[in-house]
Amino acid sequence: MNLSESVSQILSHEAELASRFYERFFAQIPEAMTFFESTNMIHQAAVLRMSLQIIEQFCSHELGAIGDYLRVIGFKHRERNIPQDMYGRWREILLDELEEFHGADWSETLKVEWTKALNLSINKMLEGYELSSATI
Ligand code: HEM
Repeated sequence: MNLSESVSQILSHEAELASRFYERFFAQIPEAMTFFESTNMIHQAAVLRMSLQIIEQFCSHELGAIGDYLRVIGFKHRERNIPQDMYGRWREILLDELEEFHGADWSETLKVEWTKALNLSINKMLEGYELSSATI
């Protein structure tokens, strides 16, 4: 299984990957819960699944428009005071969840592909932390 097939599987299932991801995330990083106090987690599950699609597309094509969008999201995350050092932990918890989701289809190669894709997108989001609102 490759990255694009992984995303297709995630999108064709219900939102269980996303809800399990947030359970893990809050269990391992309880201090992150404060950022989601007024969040509708059903909506957020849809946001996460679509984010995975964007991350895969950005890794496969590195389109400028997707990069710009990731910077805008990063800018908005900075406005929410989400610390930059939370992204590495977010990535590791997501990788654990992806491994559980795919079961026997998970492989070291797929893990490397996901890690690369997540790092590219996270780096783009963190560029958004340096922006002023006038530049986007
Ligand atoms: C690659 C990493 C991430 C991606 C692609 C991502 C993507 C997104 C997107 C697309 C949204 C909706 C648009 C917006 O409101 O800005 C969102 C919202 C949000 N994200 Fe992230 N995010 C990432 C990492 C994180 C991390 C590490 C946290 C840590 C707490 C976080 C917390 C939130 C919160 C609190 C919201 C707002 C939820 C609401 O609508 O109330 N995100 N994220």
